[in-house]
Amino acid sequence: MVSKDPHSGGAVSVANLCKTFGTSVEALRAINLNIEEGEFVAFIGPSGCGKTTLLRILAGLERASSGSAKILADWPEEACRKAQIGVAFQRPALVESRTARDNVDLTLEITRATPNQSVKELLEKFGLGEFMDHYPHELSGGMQQRVNIACALVHDPKVLLLDEPFGALDELTREKLGEWLSRLLKEEKRTGILITHSVDEAVHLSDRVVVLSAGPGRVHRVIDIPIPQPRSRSLRGDESFLKLVAEVRRELYAATEKGGAAS
Ligand SMILES: Nc1ncnc2c1ncn2[C@@H]1O[C@H](COP(=O)(O)OP(=O)(O)O)[C@@H](O)[C@H]1O
Ligand SMILES: [Mg+2]
Repeated sequence: MVSKDPHSGGAVSVANLCKTFGTSVEALRAINLNIEEGEFVAFIGPSGCGKTTLLRILAGLERASSGSAKILADWPEEACRKAQIGVAFQRPALVESRTARDNVDLTLEITRATPNQSVKELLEKFGLGEFMDHYPHELSGGMQQRVNIACALVHDPKVLLLDEPFGALDELTREKLGEWLSRLLKEEKRTGILITHSVDEAVHLSDRVVVLSAGPGRVHRVIDIPIPQPRSRSLRGDESFLKLVAEVRRELYAATEKGGAAS
C-alpha cells in the first residue's frame, strides 16, 4: 500500500513532528504546521518549549525523533544543500578576524551560491556601506546583527529562519531592525520564521503568530494578524493592533499555565 504524504506543500510543512532528547527529555510533541511561500510567521512560547529545537530541525541541524519537516517539498538537509535556507541566531555568528564583507563572503564560500547581487550591494542595502571593511568588534550590536542577517540572506535562500535575532538589543534598535527586516522580506517575497520573546514584535511583524506551550512543546494556538503589510510604527497605538497584542498575550499566559513551565 502506498502511504499518503502528510505534507500539504507550502514553503514549510511540518507533520506530526516529535523530538525527544535521549530517553526522557520530550522537547516537541506532534507539531503540525503549514507555512505558505512569502508568509512571515512568528513563534512565541515559554522558555524551554522547544522553539530553538524546532528551528534547528527545520534548518537540518537536528533530526526529528518521529514525524517530519519539509522545506519547499525537500527534507531540511536537502533544502540546506540546495542553499534554500538562511539561519540567524541571537548571538551573531561572526568571525572576529574577518571584516563585515569577508564574513558575508564566507556564506558564499560555504554554499557556493552565485547571488544576483554582490556582497557590496547587499551590505549597502543593509545600511552598512561605510562599514564593510570594519571588523565585528568595531560595529555596534545592531550593526553586527545586520551583518549576521546579511550572512543568512546573501545566498538568496527561499526560507529565512531567525531565532531571537534581536533579543540582545535595546528596544528602539530592535524595533527599527524588525521593521527593516519585515520590509525586506515583503519586497522579496521570502518566507520567514521569527522566534521572539516579544509579543509586540510578533504582532507587529508577522502574518501569523504561533503560540507554543511547554512540557513538551505543542502548538497551543495560531493567531492570524490580518493587518496589511508593510506596517508603520504608528500602528502600535491603533486599537486593532492593541487588541491582537492582548489576544496573543492572553494565549501566551494560557500556554504557560497549561505547560506549567516557568518562563
Ligand atoms: N541537545 C540537547 N540535549 C538535551 N536536551 C536538550 C538539547 N537541546 C534542547 N534540549 C531540551 O529541550 C527542551 C527545549 O529546548 P529549546 O528548544 O532550547 O527551547 P526554547 O528555545 O523554547 O527555549 C529543553 O528542555 C531543553 O533543555
Ligand atoms: Mg531558544
